[in-house]
Amino acid sequence: MLYNIAEVKDEDAWEAQSSYLSRATELVREAEVACGRKRTFHIETFGCQMNAHDSEKLSGILLLMGMEESEDDSADLVLYNTCTVRENANLKIYGRLGYLKAMKEKQPDKIIALCGCMMQEEEEIERIKKKYPFVDIVFGTHNFYEFPELFVQSVEEKRQVIRIYKDSSVVAENLPRARKYAFKSGVNIMYGCNNFCSYCIVPYVRGREKSRRSEDILKEIKDLAEDGVVEIMLLGQNVNSYGKTLPTPVSFASLLKQVEEIEGIERIRFMTSHPKDLSDDLIDVMAHSQKICRHLHLPLQSGSTEILKKMNRHYTKESYLALVDKLRDAMPDLAITTDIIVGFPGETEEDFAQTMEVVEKVRYDSAFTFIYSKRSGTPAAKDPAQVPEEVVKERFDRLLARVQTIGAEKSMAYEGQVLPVLCESVNHQDPSLMTGRLDNNSVVHFKGSKDLIGKIVSVHLKECRGFYYIGDTVS
Ligand code: SAH
Ligand code: SF4
Ligand code: F3S
Repeated sequence: MLYNIAEVKDEDAWEAQSSYLSRATELVREAEVACGRKRTFHIETFGCQMNAHDSEKLSGILLLMGMEESEDDSADLVLYNTCTVRENANLKIYGRLGYLKAMKEKQPDKIIALCGCMMQEEEEIERIKKKYPFVDIVFGTHNFYEFPELFVQSVEEKRQVIRIYKDSSVVAENLPRARKYAFKSGVNIMYGCNNFCSYCIVPYVRGREKSRRSEDILKEIKDLAEDGVVEIMLLGQNVNSYGKTLPTPVSFASLLKQVEEIEGIERIRFMTSHPKDLSDDLIDVMAHSQKICRHLHLPLQSGSTEILKKMNRHYTKESYLALVDKLRDAMPDLAITTDIIVGFPGETEEDFAQTMEVVEKVRYDSAFTFIYSKRSGTPAAKDPAQVPEEVVKERFDRLLARVQTIGAEKSMAYEGQVLPVLCESVNHQDPSLMTGRLDNNSVVHFKGSKDLIGKIVSVHLKECRGFYYIGDTVS
């Protein structure tokens, strides 16, 4: 059963876990003594940046409990942070659970835990209870900070522990966090979503929209900057409606202005922007900023006004195109990327042609294209006009080919230029190369050494190879 969360103050939520954290640490220590080595954990994250961010906090908690991170599923504790935005995301999890079951037969004290968006669905919880009794701990998107408590319960009572809250007003602050990168970081500015696009399950599994207080956000970014972070990504399902529900409302544009002033931060990114809420103030702040990246992810979803209406998106083909014109007038070098869904119920060939027309007009730098996936509980799932699979597949292939060609043509335009690149890592295939990103988020590989990681360097983009560049540093 899903139940409502108890009201706790934001600052107290994590504090209230301290006695469980001590007990969990003792239990980990006891297991360590019994087996003569450090206990290990492995977290696998599915889905979007929100989940990736939550996983960094869960890693922070597990490290505090005295465990060590391991690279694969052979760890003593395996945690899957799940996504449910499309059906194939769910299928992947059940496939992996079968394989974990076999591992647990050989490793009886292995702990298997599941959390994240898919766990917010009642039918999935019922399925886990019935068919996956070897899963030890299950929690949702609203209570990952309760992990120490759930861990203690599961180990001491030797039973499956499931705790899911339907929604929550708590924004737990001050959690530990193990950041994946030293020099760049995501920062949550809001949680949940109130938009209820008719195809989307996110508002049901992430709850109502809640903004973090701007002072908490700014403090976190200042601390990150002092810790050597140069690039931050502000995260929310619809950052353009940030701050509307705060006791003293703050706009996203004014939050950005304050973030810009933080010393040490050199690049600011954000996602995702809903076209319906993108204000003129935001365009103005972006256009005058030295730090906000020249990149905007502006999901289109469909180019047909009729379908957009059925999707509950609150904009039209014309208003979307007018917004793109306004953005490009203010920032001619702005890279625009998007998300598009093909095969929404009732989509006709004419509707799809409208989507293709917008793609031709906007010429996206890149686009994520998705085949519509029916999500139970959403209004669109009840629509009888589902489009036949082969029709959708054919449209999808046409769209994909076109966005890829346009993306490659747009990338070519930068060939030969010298541009700033944030160096992020050693290249996976060729260790003599470093990999970094341009302001517009494109990937660049260039000759260099490890000491460049975390630094912004000038790179000559010698050759464009479709979606990435090969370059040389310029001193
Ligand atoms: N909040 C973001 C999107 C989050 S989900 C926004 O509004 O832009 C990321 C993307 O998944 C969406 O933009 C949409 O294109 C896609 N998506 C969401 N639900 C889907 C569904 N039922 N079927 C196919 N794609 C979907
Ligand atoms: Fe889903 Fe729409 Fe909310 Fe994005 S804005 S998370 S697509 S409901
Ligand atoms: Fe998936 Fe949840 Fe993100 S459903 S896309 S992980 S908000």
